[in-house]
Amino acid sequence: MAAAVRDTVSNLIGKISGMGVQDTPLRQPSAEEVAELKKKYEQANQGQVFARFDTLSSNDQAQLFHQLSTFDPEHINKLVKRANADAAAALKTDTPKSLEPLPENATASILDSNPDDLRRWYDEGLKLIAENKVAVVLMAGGQGTRLGSSDPKGCFDIGLPSKKSLFQIQAERIAKLQSLATDVSGNKKVVVPWYTMTSGPTRQATEKFFTDNNFFGLAKENVTIFNQGVLPCISNDGEILLESASKVAVAPDGNGGIYQALITSGVRDDMKKRGIEHIHAYCVDNCLVKVADPTFIGFAASKKVDIATKVVRKRNATESVGLIVLNGGKPGVVEYSEIDQDTANAVDPKQAGVLKFRAANIVNHYYSFSFFESIESWASDLPHHIARKKIPFFDTKTGATVKPESPNGIKLEQFVFDVFPLTPLEKFAAIEVKREEEFSPLKNARGTKDDNPDTSKQDIMQQGLRWIEAAGGIVSKEAGAVGVEVSPSISYGGEGLEFLKGRTVNAPALIEIEEKKA
Ligand code: UTP
Repeated sequence: MAAAVRDTVSNLIGKISGMGVQDTPLRQPSAEEVAELKKKYEQANQGQVFARFDTLSSNDQAQLFHQLSTFDPEHINKLVKRANADAAAALKTDTPKSLEPLPENATASILDSNPDDLRRWYDEGLKLIAENKVAVVLMAGGQGTRLGSSDPKGCFDIGLPSKKSLFQIQAERIAKLQSLATDVSGNKKVVVPWYTMTSGPTRQATEKFFTDNNFFGLAKENVTIFNQGVLPCISNDGEILLESASKVAVAPDGNGGIYQALITSGVRDDMKKRGIEHIHAYCVDNCLVKVADPTFIGFAASKKVDIATKVVRKRNATESVGLIVLNGGKPGVVEYSEIDQDTANAVDPKQAGVLKFRAANIVNHYYSFSFFESIESWASDLPHHIARKKIPFFDTKTGATVKPESPNGIKLEQFVFDVFPLTPLEKFAAIEVKREEEFSPLKNARGTKDDNPDTSKQDIMQQGLRWIEAAGGIVSKEAGAVGVEVSPSISYGGEGLEFLKGRTVNAPALIEIEEKKA
């Protein structure tokens, strides 16, 4: 019975999110089928999508018919209504009254934790990895509009000496962890499966990049690419927009689409088959991400939580970051725009000069597999958020394609962290990590002030420099040299660099294999 219910919900989810689009064979619909679907859209006041249907070739008619069949227009209307109401309510609301930092028993900090705890968490996490109980989910479905590259963000070369892409860096960290886990356990078949979520706009290019690069040395059967859902783009007047006469304009449903996609794609089933118990999920744009970080996994597993999240310390009261907080007694994220100045400036009564609300969200999450088994019971409760965008559209009245100069519509997105408030506090934890070691997002194009390819490169090279110096190496820097790139195949987190003790590395340099000895 439970399985049947799950199937039904999964199918519904697939239908709502339009995930079936590319899998649906282009069968020519019958006149009755077209009439029925048209009626459904007209009843939802979305009949404009059929405006040019009769003028289309039979192939194009089939394409539009099948794409429209994957959406429920009434449901889309409801999502838009709810998202608009939530956005209007958020504008009116002051800083939530009962905002507090997470309680101490739900938090830890790498910055001041007892070294014994840190070692214990690392060992426990590495043991779980060695037992093949840990998987990684990468969220890479975003369109990366601010970066402005035509390729998916993960393919981006941030300018490191090695010219490695973000995908490659992450894959190499997985490979390194597998070998570290083999070293401590003797298990020669350690596998950390890597599930990469893409979307319509990023799928093909990602798949090609993985294949062209031979899955970056990982075994192909342990690398899965799966699609998140898409939702129609909506005009400012609430109408579903067309991209062309035969195609609805769609956009990925946000990184919160991960939960539904895990079910519809079969990824969760695959995890179950493999005996996965712990999952690390992260964003593609963070070049410093510690993929499947043993310390994080061990911390979360020892606390027996459903969800854990990594945070970094907010730089100052005005930094534009979301914060992990307790909001009305529930864990959650509050955006910087949602808190007033007094709250932003408040100081921790226990630590002079340290912000009270300082836990910046870096979208780096742990989930227990058992939590993923409950997705059906809450996925449809997650809200959709509105992103106002310039959306090119096909004008059904004039037949022209319009490229708007200002935002003309909305995209609907779910956020991955909207599940936090649904999680009981005793099942939630956060760990503060060092920003310079773990967080450097690639958001913007070269030439911008921050979070761009140059800051990504610099943060990796500076990290390498720190690691080498900590291992007793000497780094001599040419003028303007930013540091040293240490390949993940040499070191996952600064370990294994003893061979550089007492040696001089001339920066900028790349430490790729131990034999090179710089
Ligand atoms: P961002 O919200 O920063 O979006 O995504 P983005 O696509 O990278 O960049 P912009 O806003 O268009 O410039 C944060 C993370 O969530 C993923 C992204 O791939 C990135 O890892 N994401 C975002 C998805 O997986 N799916 C989505 O629908 C949106």
